[in-house]
Amino acid sequence: MEFKEKLKLYSAFADKTVCSYLPKADEMRSTIIESSDYSVVNGGKRLRPIMMMLSYQLIKGKTDELPGEEDMEILGPFMAALEMIHSSSLVHDDLPCMDNDTLRRGKPSTWAKFGEDMGTLAGDALLLYAFETAAKSKAKPSLSLNAMKVLAEKSGIYGMVGGQTLDVELTGRKPTRDQLVFIYENKTGALIEAAFMIGAILAGAGKRQTESLRKSALDIGMAFQIRDDILDVTSTEAELGKPIGSDSEIGKVTWLTVFGMAKSEKDVAKYTERAVKTVEKLGGHEFFEELLRYLVTRNN
Ligand code: IPE
Ligand code: IPE
Ligand code: MG
Ligand code: MG
Ligand code: MG
Repeated sequence: MEFKEKLKLYSAFADKTVCSYLPKADEMRSTIIESSDYSVVNGGKRLRPIMMMLSYQLIKGKTDELPGEEDMEILGPFMAALEMIHSSSLVHDDLPCMDNDTLRRGKPSTWAKFGEDMGTLAGDALLLYAFETAAKSKAKPSLSLNAMKVLAEKSGIYGMVGGQTLDVELTGRKPTRDQLVFIYENKTGALIEAAFMIGAILAGAGKRQTESLRKSALDIGMAFQIRDDILDVTSTEAELGKPIGSDSEIGKVTWLTVFGMAKSEKDVAKYTERAVKTVEKLGGHEFFEELLRYLVTRNN
């Protein structure tokens, strides 16, 4: 099967899995459920749940078929949980007090559709519903606990929220290289770390395998965010599904503004290649490697 075809298959599978765990309509809670679901459905590349699946397959050595029902009872809740946390981070990232963006995944961002109050609450709700969801996993309790710990850590102070905080604090100022690396490894890298590590943990990986995957996830995080900065300048709103020029509008100094286009493109390729090498060393996974390389040239 061609790469693009396989990507469609995996995206559809991840999408279906994520959506199957969303909260269902309920009369008194209709607004919070509607706004939370709105933030997750229809749109989103589902890269993090896909990466979690690929990491799981890599460790299991079952690289050429989608996980079966039994595997999905273990993995599915964590895939959905991670996408809920990622979506909640986007909902909050778009708020007027943060990046002030009104378009996300090709639709009005959650706050633009439901108001700032409901946008704030939908982000909170998704973040917490993620843990309710992850707790549904049929993984062995010791593995589940370990995966849950990684999920919490990589989402919070020592992960995404920590990165978003310095990102917001330094908006309008010029960060040092170390500060930029910290921001990218945390605001973006940390949830990718969670994807790689949780996939590995649930598949029963040893400490060393999980650690190599963790490091390669940080490389992918760097590459992914630098590419995101490039697309903010070179892409179109229609292709990206979010506003163009958002970074310069709020005075955000990015990798691209500090190092220029040529070096930024080179760095995306460098970080990606390093991550691909790790996957190769762990036994190889053709589609996983192709997906990581595709992120270098992605247009949305
Ligand atoms: C956007 O992530 C936020 C960043 C970390 C750059 P994605 O590009 O994965 O967004 P969706 O989920 O496909 O909308
Ligand atoms: C990553 O940074 C955001 C999150 C971790 C939520 P950006 O602010 O650049 O992401 P986009 O461009 O709005 O998706
Ligand atoms: Mg932001
Ligand atoms: Mg933003
Ligand atoms: Mg961006």
